[in-house]
Amino acid sequence: MTKKNMLIAANWKMNPAPDGFNRSDSVYRATKSVDVVVFPTYLDLHECIAAALTTGAQHGRAQEKGAFTGDVSMKMLRDKGCTYVLCGHSERRREHGETDEDVASQVQAALAAGLIPIACVGETVEDRTAGRHQDTVKKRLSALPVAEKLIIAYEPFWAIGNGKSATPADAEEMHAFIRSIPQWKNARILYGGSLNAGNAEAILRQKDVDGALIGGASLRPEEFAKIVEIAAKKS
Ligand code: PGA
Repeated sequence: MTKKNMLIAANWKMNPAPDGFNRSDSVYRATKSVDVVVFPTYLDLHECIAAALTTGAQHGRAQEKGAFTGDVSMKMLRDKGCTYVLCGHSERRREHGETDEDVASQVQAALAAGLIPIACVGETVEDRTAGRHQDTVKKRLSALPVAEKLIIAYEPFWAIGNGKSATPADAEEMHAFIRSIPQWKNARILYGGSLNAGNAEAILRQKDVDGALIGGASLRPEEFAKIVEIAAKKS
């Protein structure tokens, strides 16, 4: 596999785009050695794209068009200039009841539309306590189509949005496990869940961690810039 840059993804969730996001010296721009992508709300997609940031949507619907009130299709996102799309974020699974099968159709549609999907997989705290975290992640992965462009984000549900990140060893164990599955041997695998400037170095340094999907800390431009700097050391 050719060595790829680290990928640092900013998931702004349902928050306004951070100050200065569209400036020419914005911290949300890719650097020579780090790929950066932002996931704003639908309302800010256009401004991000117009500012030449690499941009993705937080969700897209698999069907191309039709009577689906409130939804936007993968094709529409691509036509507007999005490059990436998140599929099956745990908040979508929790708040909108998205299943592994829904996520698989989204990934398929995203690929067909020419988007790069980032499929999020992770286990609950109950799964981890019961020692079935790898089985859960394997099951979620097995629902997905295999494609070179598809990026995997390992996002343990219990680590998202609460300051309790996985330990670097837990993250590496799961990333290495994912890579041990033949279909995902060469996949780009991101870690997500309370990653911040304080724990980024230890987590990003892990052998099988190819980048991060960042929520809270991505809303703070200075902190985000530090994480990109840390990623640059590994790229
Ligand atoms: P967090 O979110 O960094 O705020 O935990 C990560 C994510 O949900 O992608």
